[in-house]
Amino acid sequence: MKTNKIIIGFAQSDEKYGFNKNKNFKEVALNLYNQGIRFVDTAPVYNNSDYYVKKINNLKNFKIYSKLPPLTENLKKLRDDVDKKINSILISNNTKTLHGIFLHDPLLPLQSERWKIIYNCLLRFKKKKIINNIGISVYNRDEVNNCLKIFKPDIIQFPLNIFNQEFVQENFLQNLKKKKIKLIARSIFLQGLLCKNSKKLNNFQKLWLLKIKKWENFCKTNNKKPEEVCIKFVDSFKSIDQIIFGVDDILQLENNLKIFKDKKKLISSDLSSFYEPGDLINDPRYWNNKEINYNKDWLTSKKYILNGGMLLSKKPSQFLPGLWPIFYKKAKGCEILDKYNKRYLDFCLMGVGTNILGYSNKNINSRLKKVIDDSNVSTLNSEYNIKLSNKLLSMHKWASKSFFARTGAEANAIALRISRAYTKKDEVAICGYHGWHDWYLSSNITNKKNLDQILLPGLSTIGIPKKLQGISHPFKYNDIESLIKIIKKNKNIGTIFMEVQRNEKPNKNFLKNVREIASKNNIVLIFDECTSGFRETFGGLHKKYKVYPDLAVFGKSLGNGIPITAIIGKKNIMNEALSSFISSTFWSDSIGPAAGLFSLNLMEEKKSWIKITNIGKKIKKFWKKLSLKYKLKIEISGLDSMPMFKFKSLNHNYYKTYITQEMIKKRILATNVVYCCIDHDKFLNKYFREFEKVFAELSNIDKKGAISKYLKSPVAQSGFGRLN
Ligand SMILES: Cc1ncc(COP(=O)(O)O)c(C=O)c1O
Repeated sequence: MKTNKIIIGFAQSDEKYGFNKNKNFKEVALNLYNQGIRFVDTAPVYNNSDYYVKKINNLKNFKIYSKLPPLTENLKKLRDDVDKKINSILISNNTKTLHGIFLHDPLLPLQSERWKIIYNCLLRFKKKKIINNIGISVYNRDEVNNCLKIFKPDIIQFPLNIFNQEFVQENFLQNLKKKKIKLIARSIFLQGLLCKNSKKLNNFQKLWLLKIKKWENFCKTNNKKPEEVCIKFVDSFKSIDQIIFGVDDILQLENNLKIFKDKKKLISSDLSSFYEPGDLINDPRYWNNKEINYNKDWLTSKKYILNGGMLLSKKPSQFLPGLWPIFYKKAKGCEILDKYNKRYLDFCLMGVGTNILGYSNKNINSRLKKVIDDSNVSTLNSEYNIKLSNKLLSMHKWASKSFFARTGAEANAIALRISRAYTKKDEVAICGYHGWHDWYLSSNITNKKNLDQILLPGLSTIGIPKKLQGISHPFKYNDIESLIKIIKKNKNIGTIFMEVQRNEKPNKNFLKNVREIASKNNIVLIFDECTSGFRETFGGLHKKYKVYPDLAVFGKSLGNGIPITAIIGKKNIMNEALSSFISSTFWSDSIGPAAGLFSLNLMEEKKSWIKITNIGKKIKKFWKKLSLKYKLKIEISGLDSMPMFKFKSLNHNYYKTYITQEMIKKRILATNVVYCCIDHDKFLNKYFREFEKVFAELSNIDKKGAISKYLKSPVAQSGFGRLN
C-alpha cells in the first residue's frame, strides 16, 4: 500500500498538536492505521512527542523510528549510557522494538573510540532484534560522505524540499541506493515555510521574500496548492523509500494524505531553479541568524552580479556562510573596516596574497596618486613599462625580455602562447594552479579528477570546448616519473608549466631533473611564480633553488594590490610572440607598471620576503605548540610566508569553520591559512592570544563530539584546495 511509505513526524508535537485537542485522539489514530500508515518518527528530545507516540501505540502497533540522544563523555560509562537511553526510549514509547534508531549526531562515527563502544551496543540491540535498523539523520551530503568512511548505516534520514535539493543532485541518492541504504526524506515543507503566506515571514526569512514570492506565484499560476507541489516533488524520486510528514494539526495531515494518495502527476515544470546551493534559507537551523545585514548584502550582490562578484576563494561561504562580512569600506595595513564600521584584523587571505606590504601602503599610494594625476593612459606608452622591465630583468639575469599583463591567468595564457609560437607544439604538461582559462581547465575533460591531485578538486569543465581534450596533461609534484611518462606518451608536448613549490618542498634534484628533461626534449620550461614570486626570495622561488626556467610569470603581490602581472623570459623565445597576436587595451596603462616598480623598490628596501617568512615561521611554530598542548592533531604545510594547516580529522571543515566563527567574534578574520604581510608583526600577540582560546575550546569539543551543534552557520564550503 502506498501509505506505507509515509512516516508521521512528531517533531513539532506540543500541546497545540492536534491529535488530542481538536479531534478524538483514538479516532484519529485508528483512522491513520486504517489508511495503511504504520510508521512514526519521534525522539526523546522532541517536546511531548513520546507522550503521543505512546498513546497511539497503546491503540495499534506502529513501527517507531527514534533518535539516540546526546551521550555521556565518560568512556567508561558510555556502554551503560547507551543501554539506558535505548531502554528509556522503549519504555517511554511503550514498545518492545524500534524500527530504526538514528544517531543524534551524524558525525559521531568520526569519534573512533566512542563510536566503537556505541556501535557495538547498537549492534547488540540489533542482534536481539530490539532495533531493526541503525541509521543517521543528516543535514548535508558531507555528513553522509564522512560517515560512510567509517560505517554503512542501514537508513539515512535527510532533508529534501523545493528549496533544498542538495540530496538529489549528481545521482547522490541513486549511489546510496546502490549501497543498499534505505532513504527517508524529511523537512519536505521546509518547516512549513513553503506553505506559509509570504506576509507572515519573520525578518530573516524576509530576506528571501522575492524567492518566496516567486514560489507562491509558481503555485498560483499552476493552480496548485504549495503542499501538493511539495509532496509530489519529493514523491517523484524513485530511490526514496519513505517520507516523513510533519504536521501542525490533524486536519492538515488528512489533507496531505489525500494529496499523497491522489494519482495526479506533478506539474512538468522544472523546479530546479528554486534550489540555490548553500542558501541559508534552506536550513531552518540558521533562521535565527543575527547578521541580517551581511546576508542582505550577499543576496543583493548575488542577485545583480554573477557569483556575487566574488572570486571563488573570496566567497563568504568559503569561510562562514551568513556570518562573514561582505563589503569593505577601507583597508590599511592588515586591518579592514567593513561597510558597517566594524574593524577586523585580516589574518587570512590578505586580498588573496596581493598585499605583502599591507593594504593601502602609504609609500606606494602617495606616488600612485601622482601617476593618476598625470593620466593613467594616453595614446603614447607609459615609461613605467621600461622602468619595471629594467627592474625585473636586473633581478633575473637569466631573462632578457619582459611583457606585462593584469591578471595571473592572463599572463599565463600569454606565456603559453609565446611558448607555442616558439615550439610549434600545442600540448602542455602542467603541475600547479595556473588560472581559469580554457587551456588549463581542459585537463579535466578527460578525467574530471585530473586537477584534484594538483590542488583544486572539483573544477568544472562546463563551458570548456570538448575539442580541447588532450591539450593539457597534469603530472605529480615531486614525481619525476609521472612527467617522464606523459612526455613519452604525448609527443606533441612543447611546454612544461609548473609552480616551483606549493605545499610540499621539492625533493632533492626534482626541479633540476625537470629542467634537464625540458632541455633534452626541446620543451620550454615555464615557472608560474604568480603566488610564490616575492614571498620567500626577492624575485621567485626558483632563485632559492637555483633552477632557471625559460619563461617565468609573476602576479599577485607584484603591484601590492594594483593589478599588474609580468612574463619574463629568454629573448629568443619571447621574440616569437611577435609572430603571434597578443594585444590588449588596458595592458598599456601606467598605474600597473608604476605600482610594480614602487612595490619592488619598497620590498627591496624593507626586505619584506625575510620579514613575512619570519612571521610565518612564528605562526607555524605557534600552531605546532597548540596542537601538542591541546592534543588536537594538525598537519602544517605551505611556504613559511603562507602557512596553512589541516586538522588530521574527517571533521577538518567543521573545525575550521568553528575557528573562523569564534575568531570573528574577536574581530579577527581567520581560517587555516595566513597570507603573511609585513604589518602582521604588530598584531601577532593578539592573534596568538585569541587563537589559543578558540583552539582550547575546540579541543574540548573534540573530546565531547557533536561539533555541528556548536556551529551557528553551515559548514564552510570547500573547493579551492589551496585554502583548505
Ligand atoms: C600559481 C598561480 N598561478 C595563477 C594564478 C591565477 O592568477 P589570477 O587569479 O590573478 O588570474 C594563481 C592564483 O591564485 C596562482 O596562485
